[in-house]
Amino acid sequence: MNVVTLPAPDDFDAWRDAARALAAAEVPSDAVIWQVGDAPADLFAAADVLASPAAALSSPGFSVPRAFLDLARDVVLAADPERFSLLYLLLTRLRREPKLLEDRADPLVRRLETIAKAVRRDIHKMRAFLRFREVTDDGGSRYVAWFEPEHHIVRANAAFFVNRFASMRWSILTPEVSLHWDGKALSEGPGAARADAPSGDPIEEVWKTYYASIFNPARVKVGAMLKEMPRKYWKNMPETALVPQLIAGAQARETGMIETARAKDHGAVGGNSAMAWDALREEAAACTRCPLYKPATQTVFGEGPVNAQLMFVGEQPGDQEDLAGKPFVGPAGQVFNRALAAAAIDRSRVYVTNAVKHFKFEQRGKRRIHAKPGAGEIETCRWWIEQEQLLVKPEVSVALGATAARSLFNRVVTIGRERGRPLPLPEGGQAFITVHPSYLLRLQDKAQAEDEFGRFVEDLKAAQALLGEPVRPLSD
Ligand code: URA
Repeated sequence: MNVVTLPAPDDFDAWRDAARALAAAEVPSDAVIWQVGDAPADLFAAADVLASPAAALSSPGFSVPRAFLDLARDVVLAADPERFSLLYLLLTRLRREPKLLEDRADPLVRRLETIAKAVRRDIHKMRAFLRFREVTDDGGSRYVAWFEPEHHIVRANAAFFVNRFASMRWSILTPEVSLHWDGKALSEGPGAARADAPSGDPIEEVWKTYYASIFNPARVKVGAMLKEMPRKYWKNMPETALVPQLIAGAQARETGMIETARAKDHGAVGGNSAMAWDALREEAAACTRCPLYKPATQTVFGEGPVNAQLMFVGEQPGDQEDLAGKPFVGPAGQVFNRALAAAAIDRSRVYVTNAVKHFKFEQRGKRRIHAKPGAGEIETCRWWIEQEQLLVKPEVSVALGATAARSLFNRVVTIGRERGRPLPLPEGGQAFITVHPSYLLRLQDKAQAEDEFGRFVEDLKAAQALLGEPVRPLSD
């Protein structure tokens, strides 16, 4: 038996070196015990194998796909004590089955992807829900935050906080480790307790970036807002106590934040709107508002310029979109692109999104078959499209199919009746309803498919014509 003792629970490099050496020596996974920290002396240490990991790395024919290393980097951070051995098992299998990672039905691949997803979600939560309070020490102001992660993600998140708050002096205290930034260098200290961190109001700028940008006061839904913020974090977020004031100042906050952001940007791409959009997308990446996030690979958020005049809304990501993390890149996306080109609409200048942001499917063997989102899922996910609408403020929103129309109008819409004419949206701007590109894909009769494609292109042209002028050019 080979016992490998890693120096820290999140030490990817140590795991990788040991795993490569063991794999090169063809040590089977059930002959390795992985442990962390000051373990008892390695009775059966893998000393011979591990003595020269560099040699093992150069062994002929042994290379692993980048996707494996990306997966392993996340999985190593998980709390699951089996993570190292599961990863090593995958590594040994990859040598015999180089395409294994593409087999999403394989139980080991699925399990590791689920673990990686939980880690990524924890990383996002730390970024979104951590709150700094100001204290004064010998060096002046220092900002201190307390956070309890579920996984070993604190070190992996350090660079994010250093970049985001480079000019502040700050400390992040967690049960396992503490991080300290003095404006120039990052240092580590031992774990801490909640009582070591100050209580009181958090500093404004920090939560404004992450929180107020997703708070849509025009349609105050406190219940939904609090649902979005996992209960676990409430106790650490004094602003939950501020909810009544937030509601009272709701309209002002909306105009004060998003309108100001847009005005300051003068319609340009980038700037404050883009920052608010980044924060929104980051929040959406960690969305657990409905159960669709569980089997899906990731949130597929909208994409396109924040100052776009035209917004296209689809139903939900499909299999390929779920893997790529981008809307309309699969077969329906190709039809959509062809139609946009025929209507002389430049996709890079429009905003493209979906009513539902996670792929809903049924697993049949290795295939994931599209399943229609239900009314509850559309309603729950409207939170995100409302935020996108508020930020992008498109002059015209094109609903591609019934799900998109239902989301935009918050009611059931019959495409046949409403198609092809401008309809005012409750929150401002106009909508234009047409069919979904996948409807065109399903048509068997060639002549009918051509006719319907032509009608679809005409709809897109009509929607564009509603702008009164060509789509606003991109600013530098
Ligand atoms: N269908 C959609 O509605 N959206 C996509 O992103 C892909 C297919």
